[in-house]
Amino acid sequence: MPARRGPVVRILGKGMQQIVANRVAVVTGGASGIGLGISERLAARGDRVALLDVQGDVARKVAEDLNAKGAQAVGLEVDVRDRAAVDAAMDTVRRTFGPIAIAVTSAGVDADGSFTEIVWETWERVLAINLSGTFHCLQSVVPDMLAAGWGRIVTISSSSAQHGAANRAHYVASKGGVIALTKALALELAPHGITVNTIPPSVIDTPMAHAGQAAGHFPGVDAVAAVTPVRRAGVPADIAAACEFLCSEDAGFITGQQIGVNGGWYL
Ligand SMILES: NC(=O)c1ccc[n+]([C@@H]2O[C@H](COP(=O)([O-])OP(=O)(O)OC[C@H]3O[C@@H](n4cnc5c(N)ncnc54)[C@H](O)[C@@H]3O)[C@@H](O)[C@H]2O)c1
Repeated sequence: MPARRGPVVRILGKGMQQIVANRVAVVTGGASGIGLGISERLAARGDRVALLDVQGDVARKVAEDLNAKGAQAVGLEVDVRDRAAVDAAMDTVRRTFGPIAIAVTSAGVDADGSFTEIVWETWERVLAINLSGTFHCLQSVVPDMLAAGWGRIVTISSSSAQHGAANRAHYVASKGGVIALTKALALELAPHGITVNTIPPSVIDTPMAHAGQAAGHFPGVDAVAAVTPVRRAGVPADIAAACEFLCSEDAGFITGQQIGVNGGWYL
């Protein structure tokens, strides 16, 4: 079990403070793709990282690999739809590392299908994971940030919710909800030293993108790269770099924003 040390805090006066080191970060969906890239990036900068994912074995293996490189990470099996499981996992993170200062919500599922053919069960599942799962995770950790007077929240939404997308109404609606939740929380939490921003990626080269390609949802990562203004596909490291910045002290005046990381495609 990694050694537990308290966060390094800089007191700013008037009840304000910064957590400058030994930060504790929770990344949902940390076992794969964008969440994995973000977990690796935060671990590399010295944050203690908890990877929460429904693929528990994979999350634990990723954490083991990170720890073998000198990081402090833990992998936990959680279905973000299950509030009791989310709360229990956050308690494990607190016992292992201390209060949670950073939350990144990347757990999500893709979906496609014409609007008239979407069945209620699929609509409910997509909304439950992508939107309600984000709600559960954030409501479970925000009290730590309120108590500390400092926090960083980054949600992973989707560029499809910025401009719309045909045959994906459930997915797009769920991600539009994530953007709106982000904006609402940003205003509510801003006076408490907590910033809340969203990254709405365009197509990023991950297992989800390849599954969509195989299922014929979109023409493929390479085809998208060819028409992207920067002429390459996005990779998890692109999202992770922006996320690291949003979680930094330097980003303290940025909140409620949609930070597009999209190679200039969806402007
Ligand atoms: N890849 C893209 O092109 C793209 C574009 C826009 C937005 N996004 C969003 O980025 C996020 C990450 O996607 P990705 O491309 O890395 O996909 P991915 O499939 O590689 O990773 C998603 C992770 O979420 C986990 N997950 C799924 N359901 C879960 C649940 N109920 N509880 C806990 N964990 C769960 C999966 O096990 C997986 O590890 C998603 O929210 C996705 O909607 C991806």
